[in-house]
Amino acid sequence: RDYRIATIPGDGIGREVVPAAASVLDRAGALFGFEIEWTEFDWSCAYYAEHGCMMPADGLDLLRDFDQIFLGAVGSPEVPDDVSLWGLLIPIRRAFQQYINLRPVTLLPGMTSPLRKDIAESIDFLVVRENNEGEYSEIGGRLYRGTPQEIAVQEAVFTRIGVERVMRYAFALAKSRRKNVASATKSNGIIHTMPFWDEVFRDISIEHPDVETSQHHIDALAAKFVLAPAQFDVVVASNLFGDILTDIGAAIIGSIGIGASGNINPEGDFPSMFESVHGSAPDIAGLGIANPLGQVWAGSMMLDHMGEATAAAAVKEAMSRTLLSDIRTPDLGGDATTADVTQSLITTLEEV
Ligand code: NAI
Ligand code: MG
Repeated sequence: RDYRIATIPGDGIGREVVPAAASVLDRAGALFGFEIEWTEFDWSCAYYAEHGCMMPADGLDLLRDFDQIFLGAVGSPEVPDDVSLWGLLIPIRRAFQQYINLRPVTLLPGMTSPLRKDIAESIDFLVVRENNEGEYSEIGGRLYRGTPQEIAVQEAVFTRIGVERVMRYAFALAKSRRKNVASATKSNGIIHTMPFWDEVFRDISIEHPDVETSQHHIDALAAKFVLAPAQFDVVVASNLFGDILTDIGAAIIGSIGIGASGNINPEGDFPSMFESVHGSAPDIAGLGIANPLGQVWAGSMMLDHMGEATAAAAVKEAMSRTLLSDIRTPDLGGDATTADVTQSLITTLEEV
């Protein structure tokens, strides 16, 4: 089996962790009988400095025919973050109907949570974030700039198709797991879009009587992620709420350097995009100490999505064994380099 993958390493440590993760996936391919053909695109803030745009005008067309996209991180102190986000990531997510952002929050063996041990035990859930609409919209504007009368308005957009499909995905996922879906809402304060979100949640839950459901206001839910995370199986949330929840999710499993996410087009009409949760980390870029595990985990999700479940599980197992043998980068309290961790993953894969 052959896969054609487009990589966008991006900026900063993205350029370090993407090649590291690619070498681990290549090894997995050699062991499990598939081959990955990588094609790199240098779209980034560095590209922006040279060309005045984050990607070329035909960028989306160049990506369209790849099986999947593997992204590091984009962002640099010289380019405003909204430019890098709206110039690259958001166009890809929307053009390719990657309406699911899936983030595993699992405390793999060897990971250390900052939470008390009895609370952190058995953290194992998935956040399903709506990835195409919601609070991240271009509708709105500003008036009377710089005056005391200044006004800023930002509209949120929730469509029935958009909300139903993310709910359906969450329920289907829960059916393959512990059959429990928690929904993030705020219908006490946000009185149009959130009651609509709740209604659709109720409608879809009626189609799945075997799945247990619960509904939580986003503020209380954020607290529960820290105080009692073991109760969750699948959590479904809007674009903004999901964004916030997933960073808390990454924090409770030990480091922003470990978190991974998939921007998924479930129908497979377009490529999906897999990325580490962290940014370009300008403070440690070039030092060779970036934790590659988030990018490697993203690679494991990509393998899973392509039907290589055995290889995907082996990569996660190699991550755990590497952590358990105390080969860790400084963000996890160790003194290993990116290269040390990568080498350990490659060696361990052969033993799994
Ligand atoms: P960041 O995730 O880059 O860094 C936050 C802190 O975590 C830093 O101290 C960094 O050294 C550390 N860190 C992050 N990843 C690490 C890893 N793999 N290993 C070890 N330590 C790690 O977030 P920050 O500083 O807010 O953003 C920096 C730039 O990255 C900004 O321009 C931002 O817009 C961009 N960014 C891009 C994202 C993406 O491409 N999806 C996501 C988040 C931020
Ligand atoms: Mg992010």
